[in-house]
Amino acid sequence: MKINLISDTVTKPTLEMLDTMMSAEVGDDVFKEDPSVNALEDKLARLFAKEAALFFPSGTMANQTAIKLHTNPGDQLICDTYAHIYNYEGGGASFNSGVSCKLIDGQRGMITADQVATAINPPDFYHSPLTSLVCIGNTTNKGGGACYDFGELQRIKTICKKHGLAYHLDGARLWNALVAKNETPEQYGDLLDTISVCLSKGLGCPVGSALVGSTELIDKALRIRKILGGGMRQAGWPQRRPMPWITILSDWQKTI
Ligand SMILES: Cc1ncc(COP(=O)(O)O)c(C=O)c1O
Repeated sequence: MKINLISDTVTKPTLEMLDTMMSAEVGDDVFKEDPSVNALEDKLARLFAKEAALFFPSGTMANQTAIKLHTNPGDQLICDTYAHIYNYEGGGASFNSGVSCKLIDGQRGMITADQVATAINPPDFYHSPLTSLVCIGNTTNKGGGACYDFGELQRIKTICKKHGLAYHLDGARLWNALVAKNETPEQYGDLLDTISVCLSKGLGCPVGSALVGSTELIDKALRIRKILGGGMRQAGWPQRRPMPWITILSDWQKTI
């Protein structure tokens, strides 16, 4: 058997998953009437102990929506030099939100609270862009799957709070970090303002990501998703899962 290790994005649904999809109940998700998508969003919100979640066709769109939510044109966000939002989202941060990125040279894509603190522009110095958002990634893609020490993430949160910055996690592969570090989604939900997660990578769904956050943020995200063309109709088919995802991922990790 050949195994393609180029990326976990080449994963395909199992026969069991395909079978479950065939019997999925669907509706028009643009009217929020797809029961499978609604159930998925409820489940994710509960998993992260957040108020709400919104399904997206891609991780890129979920991240771009988060950037738009937390910034105004002209602002600056802080991220690692390796960040996916900076390197691999087509310059979307500047195109969609009109923001620049202050890049930090971290370790394998991971930044520290001290680095964040030094990267913040003084808010009263109006010549510099206003810093409004910190974006982290866990695990890191370009960093070769490195995952954060949770204590560092908490220290970054303290800096964000002190300076009134929003805190977003690109959690495309957060599932892997949770398993590797024996952490829980609730810990992350408690820490971050928004988290994007991908279902289409190690979990094997054919398509899809989600953004979790407060009801207020997710209500706004629905409008942004619409503007970006991300409202899909019978979106529930590819999302039906026969088993809880974390169990699948953790079982799968035990086999490699
Ligand atoms: C870390 C990270 N974030 C976001 C994405 C974007 O996901 P998508 O390909 O679904 O747009 C990827 C895709 O590989 C990724 O590796």
